[in-house]
Amino acid sequence: MKKRIGILTSGGDCPGLNAAIRGVAKASYELFDCEFIGIHDGYKGLIDGNYTELTPKDFSGILTLGGTILGTRRTPFRKMRKIEEDGVDKVANMIKTYENLGLDCLITLGGNGTHKNANLLREEGLNIIGLPKTIDNDIYGTDLTFGFLSAVDIATEVIDRVHTTADSHDRVMLVELMGHKAGWLPLYAGLAGGADVVLIPEIPYSLDKIYEALQERQSKGKNFSIIVVAEGALNKEEAAMSKKEFREHRMSMKHQTVSYRLAEEINKELGFETRVTIPGHQQRGGSPSAYDRILATKFGVYAAQLIKEERYGNTVSIVNNKLQATPLEYMAPKLKLVTKDNEVLKTGEIMGLKYGN
Ligand code: F6P
Repeated sequence: MKKRIGILTSGGDCPGLNAAIRGVAKASYELFDCEFIGIHDGYKGLIDGNYTELTPKDFSGILTLGGTILGTRRTPFRKMRKIEEDGVDKVANMIKTYENLGLDCLITLGGNGTHKNANLLREEGLNIIGLPKTIDNDIYGTDLTFGFLSAVDIATEVIDRVHTTADSHDRVMLVELMGHKAGWLPLYAGLAGGADVVLIPEIPYSLDKIYEALQERQSKGKNFSIIVVAEGALNKEEAAMSKKEFREHRMSMKHQTVSYRLAEEINKELGFETRVTIPGHQQRGGSPSAYDRILATKFGVYAAQLIKEERYGNTVSIVNNKLQATPLEYMAPKLKLVTKDNEVLKTGEIMGLKYGN
């Protein structure tokens, strides 16, 4: 019997989404009789009933394309069951669209929020298969998410370029990288780019330790330094605050971005000339790296196999270089953060990289 497959991308985009969409579709067309319905703009399209019937040619020529051909939106999980001012029952609408379309399953490509919503729909009885994407690499239950290594390449190039100008001018250069609550991207790009200090949310920093690291470099005749700062980096005092205290504390600050605050503090305390670079959404833009094209395609093909076998309620993950199906209920509620025993973290430590602690 022909399977009707809905597919959507949700949350922040990243390189590799189209490669994964193509992987699912091409493999499904090969493996069984099927048709695809593209849901526009993530769960919003499912709520609003905004979709397009797709044909094989829609999946052609998109392997290298950045962004997502389906469009995406952020639809926070905490609001999904809330009826807001517009009076829309979001969950009921999503179920209605799924049923009206006669779907056999829904493929959701996304990060943490997407997987929480996917799990909610699974609990409501829909057949769901997830695919893990995000430049943050913070999805629990998978060693890698597609999009991450492309972002590491982009961020590393930024650090490389900042490196040469830092050297010429004898400056302390701060490069602020994305990653939300996780430090994977700053950690990997920091090590790849030969940074001197990497500050990540999982390791609260102390200013004194940062000053120490910079002075130590100066004492060795190195008159410039590269500090990679995670957008979510916080100091030891901030780490000890409650969520509410922390919000109020941040709102009262002159600079909302951590790298600008640090740049000012370093300049004031040590007199070093400082500059800040924030590549921002460039880290999520453009074509996926070769490795991400392969990873996204592998994930997509594995998802098609799961659809064929009707193994719903899972997300595709990779553990020790092996693809597997991980139950949504197991991985959706958790975040994967950098742990103290992480090999890349420890490698950096031995190489003299400082984490500000
Ligand atoms: O989750 C991906 C991510 O790029 C995070 O690293 C970052 O904190 C966030 O999205 C930025 O979100 P937005 O694109 O909504 O500004």
